[in-house]
Amino acid sequence: RVKDGATGLEKLVLRAAHGCSVEVYLYGGQVIFWENEYREQLLFVSRKASFKPPKAIRGGIQICFPQFGNHGVLEQHGFARNRLWSVDESPPPFPATASNCHIDLILKQSPEVLKIWPHSFEFRLRVALSPTGDLMLTSRIKNTNADGKPFKFRLSYHTYFLVSDISEVRIEGLETLDYLDNLQSEDRRTEQGDAVVFESEVDKVYLSAPPKIVIIDHDKKRTFELRKEGLPDVVLWNPWDMKAKTIPDFAEEEYKRMLCVGAANVEKPITLRPGEEWQGRQEISVVPSSYSSGQ
Ligand code: BG6
Repeated sequence: RVKDGATGLEKLVLRAAHGCSVEVYLYGGQVIFWENEYREQLLFVSRKASFKPPKAIRGGIQICFPQFGNHGVLEQHGFARNRLWSVDESPPPFPATASNCHIDLILKQSPEVLKIWPHSFEFRLRVALSPTGDLMLTSRIKNTNADGKPFKFRLSYHTYFLVSDISEVRIEGLETLDYLDNLQSEDRRTEQGDAVVFESEVDKVYLSAPPKIVIIDHDKKRTFELRKEGLPDVVLWNPWDMKAKTIPDFAEEEYKRMLCVGAANVEKPITLRPGEEWQGRQEISVVPSSYSSGQ
């Protein structure tokens, strides 16, 4: 646990034996850096990102909870991404994973949050690196309301992937799915054609997506494989040039080097009764460039 010299924020650093590393900020419970064994950065962070609360950090993996986007009455993407999380010193046992290289964080109710979301909860986040360098985020959310009230939540791992050129990126696994389009008024559309490619602004939620999708960066000869459990949907966002100009903590040309993709539940919020706990996860691997889901 160290204080980051540049941002002044506290972070935890995970280093796996083969040289991969991950940095997680307590602020937002946010993974900010993920490096492979060749010291290559795999996540995007804007050069204009603000590290001053209450602004969420533009990049890495944002935890959007208990709301996604404007699907609810809370602030955009909920409050978890701009709160201070704590280290969970004695987490209850997590289901076995191949990794013992992990960080456990927790976000609980606070008087400040209670004013905007009148529920008591425990959100446990485990960030783990597998022996082969996969990045695994497991969330466990528990309703600890003493008054017998259930609550509903949405969640997204809003992951800013670093790509070399957005026009050379393709996603496989989303074709033929229904989606909600934030840029269109109609409610539900169906993806046509083959893999998803990028030529303009995109702001979509793919519904009931398969447990695995791949993000192929032709230029960088790199493929990310994203696997998910417990989270049916996949969010996809790139502001492109015009929208980028309106985002103060994002440099206009940066849209070419990033793509937000994340496991989520957006269409159907999850309901938890007091005492109930929900679990979901997202795992990302970097696989050889020749990879294609069709092979
Ligand atoms: C996406 C939303 O997930 O996040 C977009 O669908 C939004 O509508 C984008 O613009 C970025 O959100 P924010 O709050 O981080 O600027």
